[in-house]
Amino acid sequence: MRLDVINTDKAFDYGYLLKRIFPYIKPVLFRIVITFLLAVPLGLLDGVTAFVLKPYIDVVVNGNIIDWHGFILTRDLLAKIIPPGIVIFAGIQGVLRYLNAYLSDWISLTIANSVKVDLFKKLVYLDSKFYDENSSGLIISRFLSDPDCASRQLINSIKTIITSLTSALGLIFVLIYNSWELAFVGVVILIFAFAPMALLRKKIKEVSNKSTVVGGNITTAFNETYKGNKVISGYNLQDKEYSRVKGLIRKTFSLQMSLTKRTGWLSPIMYIIASIGIALVMLFGNKLIMMGRLTTGSFASFITSLLLLYKPIKTLGQDLTGIQGIFVALNRVFELFDFNSRIKDNGTKEFNFTPQSIKFSEVSFSYNEQKQVLHNISFEAKKGQTIALVGNSGGGKSTIVNLLPRFYDIYSGGIYFDDINIKDFKLASLRNKISEVFQDNFLFSGTIRENILIGKENATQEEIDKVISASHLDEFVANLDRGLDTPIAENGASLSGGQRQRIAIARAMIKDAPIVVLDEATSALDNKSEKIVQKALDNLMKDKTVFVIAHRLSTIFNADKILFIENGEIVEMGTHEQLIKIKDGKYKTLYNMQFKNRENELNNAQ
Ligand SMILES: Nc1ncnc2c1ncn2[C@@H]1O[C@H](COP(=O)(O)OP(=O)(O)O)[C@@H](O)[C@H]1O
Ligand SMILES: [Mg+2]
Repeated sequence: MRLDVINTDKAFDYGYLLKRIFPYIKPVLFRIVITFLLAVPLGLLDGVTAFVLKPYIDVVVNGNIIDWHGFILTRDLLAKIIPPGIVIFAGIQGVLRYLNAYLSDWISLTIANSVKVDLFKKLVYLDSKFYDENSSGLIISRFLSDPDCASRQLINSIKTIITSLTSALGLIFVLIYNSWELAFVGVVILIFAFAPMALLRKKIKEVSNKSTVVGGNITTAFNETYKGNKVISGYNLQDKEYSRVKGLIRKTFSLQMSLTKRTGWLSPIMYIIASIGIALVMLFGNKLIMMGRLTTGSFASFITSLLLLYKPIKTLGQDLTGIQGIFVALNRVFELFDFNSRIKDNGTKEFNFTPQSIKFSEVSFSYNEQKQVLHNISFEAKKGQTIALVGNSGGGKSTIVNLLPRFYDIYSGGIYFDDINIKDFKLASLRNKISEVFQDNFLFSGTIRENILIGKENATQEEIDKVISASHLDEFVANLDRGLDTPIAENGASLSGGQRQRIAIARAMIKDAPIVVLDEATSALDNKSEKIVQKALDNLMKDKTVFVIAHRLSTIFNADKILFIENGEIVEMGTHEQLIKIKDGKYKTLYNMQFKNRENELNNAQ
């Protein structure tokens, strides 16, 4: 499920891709038909000027009289009608062009927006692994630019293709009307001008895919510059970042240029072939005039059409080439649509009770094929118990607790709540029953109140006040001018670590879930903030079943069960008293080395 490697290669399967985009096109189909219908007269009107050149020259200039189905067209009449007629037709064309542009923009934006909305829904439900595997930049660029490219350019291209096609057809009609022999020469040669385009499809797709990856890398680099600005400054990495991004930007440059190098000759070649056509027509046309088979008016009208024909044919060529890029984008959009969360929400049971027991039974797990992370983890947590997970970093403690809300799914063994398999619950109802506080908690941009209400949308003021006080936020909030309605910066950048932590605790507390997961919730804090955050956590843990990963002795000391995790296995399990008695035990060693010192430190801090 990596965006930079997977490629289902359906970019040339136009039928398939159009079928996929059709549901988005369907609601606006009527308007599309109107737009496309408007494109027809829009194109055909191009031929009008060329067409009237014949009667104008033959009748007005050369003084011939035409009997047109009994209508006598005199010089005076045509001299009065044709010039203003041309202006009127141009006026009509202008109005049609405006309507057409307005409609097609409306349609393409509408389609792009609904694709984006659906795509976002898909993305927001994707599993954690997807976000582990793919860079932010790549996801952002595929979310923002591909749907636009796919739908906007699709409509615009079809519109211009129709206009150009009808314009070309109209002009070709004028050609044939004037002289079918000359028309044959002209059209055959113009078709030759088209031929090279077919060769370029593959190259365009390849470059376009590569550009997206590079573009994504640039976005990721920007994101990192933003999020990591302190590290970048602190380690004096500015120049390194600069070179990295410069390299990436250069790479897009060379990718773009390689495309231009391969496609740029197209237009001049076409132009040369077209002028060969015009030259041949001139020579041949002159002969026909000499032979009396062509009037000067027809000849002028013919040459004008042929010259006018170059533009729609060129546009047509460009659009037909460009349309490949659209299908590439369309393919990428639907590739993303086909990503499904690997966490299947197939359960039917509502998690609407407080479980008496939570059991891990022979649980094994790995994030990827390279390395198994958990091996046969088995333990039970009874209602109201506190289970402490300790052990060296990288042992798998966080992994174990991340399995509870099913951020990841296990591949063998089972996790049971009152003997009901975790997979039998509706996912949202399971997650409703678990509150988590991590070392680093994401806060949304918005106010403090909004961030707390995430835990319970419709909480009353009374409930909010209660958790504010229980999470020891009251003093902090009271000192803010705007109190709870104080906006916080993106990801809580304007808050101290302890304040951020307490907001996260208040958010978890108001959720009032029976199961609480605390993953090093105080590790990032200094001793003083730790004390107050710990008090808040103690309130959060009250009467809950708690899984806690902590470095603080008192939390572990009072735990009903301590799991010592090493290399993905439970190597020791028991209460503090039990584990401390194991001679040369891992827990005992850790306790002697770390916790004792830590506790002294904390006590001295006050
Ligand atoms: N999202 C992830 N993708 C791949 N590997 C991971 C991921 N998270 C953790 N790991 C790996 O899993 C192992 C256990 O990590 P973790 O559960 O975070 O340990 P702990 O919390 O005990 O420090 C480590 O080897 C780590 O590299
Ligand atoms: Mg961890």
